[in-house]
Amino acid sequence: MENKDFSVLPAHVGVIMDGNGRWAKNRGLPRSKGHIEGAKTFRKIGEYAGNLGIRHISFYAFSTENWSRPQEEVEAIMALFGDYLHEAVDRLDENIEKGIRLRFLGDRNGLSEELIELIDFVEEKTRDMDKVNLNIAVNYGGQQEILHSVKNIAKDVKAGLIKPEDITLDTIQRGLYTLEQPPVDLVIRPSGEQRLSNFLLWQSAYAEFWSSDVLWPDFTEKDFDEALRAFEKRNRRFGGV
Ligand code: IPE
Ligand code: IPE
Ligand code: MG
Repeated sequence: MENKDFSVLPAHVGVIMDGNGRWAKNRGLPRSKGHIEGAKTFRKIGEYAGNLGIRHISFYAFSTENWSRPQEEVEAIMALFGDYLHEAVDRLDENIEKGIRLRFLGDRNGLSEELIELIDFVEEKTRDMDKVNLNIAVNYGGQQEILHSVKNIAKDVKAGLIKPEDITLDTIQRGLYTLEQPPVDLVIRPSGEQRLSNFLLWQSAYAEFWSSDVLWPDFTEKDFDEALRAFEKRNRRFGGV
């Protein structure tokens, strides 16, 4: 594990992997090439975060709104997700040795059968790992995730398993894709945008937000360090004084 002497590390980091398209455009390349480079950055930063001792990290790869993009681009992103899952299967022993638990955040409906099978396999095989929890959000929307939790609670109420007055914040939280994972402490967004774009809305209620003008394919370990250094200095009050 790298020792960088951070006085405090976020328990859960969320990363909005943005700027792939602009990166490609700046080079006169097709957008899909930007996604290929972005996927490399995802692997690099995921590994780096684990080495630093970040216990939970969630990467936003494809939103429920991203289906509105040209079909060719959507297919390119899904193919990259498939490549990543195949690689995770090939490297299962390595991941297990490192204690990496892989989780998918999002709505499985809408993904191909092949992707769903790979997700189920990788999640099942790594479910007992707890050193690094790496989440990848695909076909993910924060509002949709809350809706999903609320619908399940409504079913439980209808079945008489729970009374409406017994519903707590925790009930809703346990129904989210992140299950028992801690709230997000730090959201990182490259590419200069200053918005959440429907990412981990519930989990980020008190997250610190850090953005950078660097486009995701150019994002380095140094940029990640910079975000963590900024986080160290934040004065988090959670509504107190
Ligand atoms: C990648 O960045 C994130 C995805 C939605 C897959 P973009 O493709 O949004 O890149 P920009 O914002 O167009 O530069
Ligand atoms: C957010 O990026 C989604 C992902 C990074 C997967 P977008 O590029 O889709 O967000 P907007 O459209 O700029 O808000
Ligand atoms: Mg974008």
